[in-house]
Amino acid sequence: MPHKVSLSRLKLTDFRNYASVSLSLDGRHVVLTGDNGAGKTNLMEAVSLLSPGRGLRRATYGDITRVGASGGFAIFAELDGMEGEVEIGTGVDTTDDSASRRLRINATPAKSADELTDHLRLLWLTPSMDGLFTGGSSERRRFLDRLVLSLDPAHGRRASDFERAMRSRNKLLDERRFDPAWLSGIEQQMASLGIAMAMARQEMLGLLARLIEETHDTSPFPAAALELAGFIDGQFSRPAVDLEDEYAAMLAESRYRDAAAGRTLVGPHRADLIVRHRQKQMEAARCSTGEQKALLVGLILAHARLVANLTGHAPILLLDEIAAHLDEGRRAALFDLIDALGGQAFMTGTDRAMFCALGERAQFFTVADGKVFE
Ligand SMILES: Nc1ncnc2c1ncn2[C@@H]1O[C@H](COP(=O)(O)OP(=O)(O)OP(=O)(O)O)[C@@H](O)[C@H]1O
Ligand SMILES: [Mg+2]
Repeated sequence: MPHKVSLSRLKLTDFRNYASVSLSLDGRHVVLTGDNGAGKTNLMEAVSLLSPGRGLRRATYGDITRVGASGGFAIFAELDGMEGEVEIGTGVDTTDDSASRRLRINATPAKSADELTDHLRLLWLTPSMDGLFTGGSSERRRFLDRLVLSLDPAHGRRASDFERAMRSRNKLLDERRFDPAWLSGIEQQMASLGIAMAMARQEMLGLLARLIEETHDTSPFPAAALELAGFIDGQFSRPAVDLEDEYAAMLAESRYRDAAAGRTLVGPHRADLIVRHRQKQMEAARCSTGEQKALLVGLILAHARLVANLTGHAPILLLDEIAAHLDEGRRAALFDLIDALGGQAFMTGTDRAMFCALGERAQFFTVADGKVFE
């Protein structure tokens, strides 16, 4: 069994509809139930901010801060993490949207939010991801990169450095400054970062595909076939240096075309994740709503297992309204599967009865008007 990373305390101040709340957790799964608008997803969002980035809603810090609060918001958590017991404090001091968030780990200011990944890995599934397969490719890329990030924390830095380099190239092209030495310097950087990004995505998908292959017989959820498309398709077995040279040459050749388009037309920022329902040989976008949800749940759970296998620590799962569209049998199977992953899962719903199959395996809380009761 992987080591169970679990939250033992969560304290929020001026976070969304919570002026002040404190939860004491005993390491079991956490079920949050309550009416619409009670604050269940808000609690999940607070936990999601224990990973780098802007959390599961990708909200601005101004939006997160409670309306009417005089300063910013604060989150404090105690957990049994990947390196043992740890205290994490994060938040912003002002309502100014441009403020970056503070982070303290064991009361010491952290240099970067990436340090969070030394202590816990988080995966989430929310109703806003229901349109993942039918919507635009940027959401799928973000989803894909989050999967990579939970295995390879350096991926985030690579992606943001690529973005920065691409922006400066776009700016030069926009200003019609076709300085070959300057541009090729930037393009070289884009090539090495871009190919590294594509390779990291492909490597993660390969590992995930293998794991799905090994476990799909016993899973109550349909198996997904996964493929990257839109950038260096089908060439991942070639040496990275060759691909870098090729991509750099491609960029150099397309300067005038990209200048006319006002953006860089080829690169990892244009890639897409193609998901298929394996048994049915059907693209996910053409599957039924329920099938799409089941594919997504299966994918997240397979990834959670992969993270646990590779790091030795089970990730914390945030499953917002996951039980809502499942029948009783499926729901029970889902809970067993979540439990077998060996990590702590946070689940929400409007009706406590939906979670009764969890029994003693979970701690139950009722959420009402920005207050939480056990
Ligand atoms: N910055 C904020 N300050 C105060 N209240 C906020 C802020 N942001 C959101 N809210 C409120 O928080 C409330 C709870 O939202 P949340 O999404 O957590 O509800 P929920 O319990 O998940 O509901 P549902 O069952 O509909 O998903 C909403 O009524 C929303 O208006
Ligand atoms: Mg909600």
